[in-house]
Amino acid sequence: MPSLFTFGAPPPAPLPDDLSDQPDWVQANPARIERALARALGRPAGGWYAVDAVDAITRAPRAYTIAGRALILWRSAEGRLLAAPEACPHMGASLACARTRGDAVICPWHGLELGPRPHGRWRPLVAHDDGVLAWVRLEGEEAPSDAPILAPRPEGFVAGVIRMEAACEPADILANRLDPWHGAHFHPHSFARLRVLEEDEDVLRVRVAYRVVGPLAVEVDATFHCPDRRTIVMTIVGGEGVGSVVETHATPIEGGRTAVIEATLATSERRGFAVARATARLWRGMITRRAARLWVEDIAYAERRYALRRGEPVRLRTIQGG
Ligand code: FES
Ligand SMILES: [Fe+2]
Repeated sequence: MPSLFTFGAPPPAPLPDDLSDQPDWVQANPARIERALARALGRPAGGWYAVDAVDAITRAPRAYTIAGRALILWRSAEGRLLAAPEACPHMGASLACARTRGDAVICPWHGLELGPRPHGRWRPLVAHDDGVLAWVRLEGEEAPSDAPILAPRPEGFVAGVIRMEAACEPADILANRLDPWHGAHFHPHSFARLRVLEEDEDVLRVRVAYRVVGPLAVEVDATFHCPDRRTIVMTIVGGEGVGSVVETHATPIEGGRTAVIEATLATSERRGFAVARATARLWRGMITRRAARLWVEDIAYAERRYALRRGEPVRLRTIQGG
């Protein structure tokens, strides 16, 4: 193992005596990962789909495809998050380039004003702004809930959100995160060490040494769990930044395409954190650059898994390591 200097608060407990010394490729048991994935995919999500960062939605409508449905999201004059079908019910013009008035959009072709009430089969959708992410609720097979099913978030945090697209299904994104054993091997630039401390039916606990620069790393304990069928959450439970979370949401687009929407909510007990919150814009950039770098690699993993699962010829992708 390369020499490593760790700093920050110490991890909460010594490593358990019975920790497996088997190599990671033996511990990463495909059948165990599949079982954890099957349990996650059986959880309710209340019909809610994460769409994007709340900051991405402004007064001007923005188009998204979610689970095969073309939608627009925009904000009312008062800043309320709104969502509706993207096609005008008159002759199908795209409302993505509509003007807005109050809570309504005005069709660019013939001026039909739509919303907030239904117009024929065109009806606004239920949207939710949780302060970090924008959500939409779709009618379908899932029993609806009033709000998205969120894991606990820290009270004060600096947040960074990334949205990337992948040629796979949401299950492949969750499966990637349910295999933490790949961390130090596949992302050596970010993780110096990663040990799985325990795993039960629904929660994985890991100790990870996260590289800051060169051999300098922060060592923390973290758990992974899936609060709903399209989300996996990492929570720091020991060491520096206890209570920080990384929420990874996998939202189906259509036909084997999935959006990865990842929100990092970083917190700290340290006094200097107040300064960090005051300079959130700076920190947000660092958080999102780091998350995006990891997801370039993890999307390659998820796409490969999807292609293998479907028995398709795999597209070879080169990932620069180190
Ligand atoms: S297509 Fe929208 S008003 Fe005619
Ligand atoms: Fe990864």
